Amino acid sequence: MSNIQILVGSTLGGAEYVAEAIQPLLEEAGFDSELHFDPDLNSLSLQQDQIWLICISTHGAGDYPENFKPFVEQLQQVNAPLNDVRYGVVGIGDSNYDTYCEASKNIDFLLEDMGAVRLGERFDIDVAEHPIPEDHVLEWIPMWIEDLNDIIED
Ligand SMILES: Cc1cc2nc3c(=O)[nH]c(=O)nc-3n(C[C@H](O)[C@H](O)[C@H](O)COP(=O)(O)O)c2cc1C
Repeated sequence: MSNIQILVGSTLGGAEYVAEAIQPLLEEAGFDSELHFDPDLNSLSLQQDQIWLICISTHGAGDYPENFKPFVEQLQQVNAPLNDVRYGVVGIGDSNYDTYCEASKNIDFLLEDMGAVRLGERFDIDVAEHPIPEDHVLEWIPMWIEDLNDIIED
């Protein structure tokens, strides 16, 4: 269970940079990972244990990025619970919007509602405070790696 699927929702590329900054740290910690810039549920086996790391920005008025919407639609059509999915969420957004990081909150709620289990806390990065989000995420990732190690050891 040491292969992590990094699922990216991004419009302007910021969340992609965040995902790309995370990947080498996961590899250093001994985890294989795959980046998905156009996440497709059909390429992820729901029959096996899965670890997903969602890196997602918010657009529109609290909307998912366009490239992520088909994945959310696919999830909404799944009838079985996602009991074998463990996930983390990194959101990026701007606190000048009333709908600050709505997309990361919504995907977190959706996955939880479907029976998936979040590892650690969601990490939302405010670009108004942290204009280089790929630097700020480096503060969170060691904690998430500890959470990953805990489930691997169990
Ligand atoms: C048109 C537009 C709408 C946005 N709407 C929101 C929003 O509703 N909530 C939020 O937290 N951030 C919002 N943002 C800020 C983006 O989430 C932020 O700029 C982020 O870094 C973009 O990430 P990306 O490059 O991965 O698309 C918006 C940005 C733009 C340009």
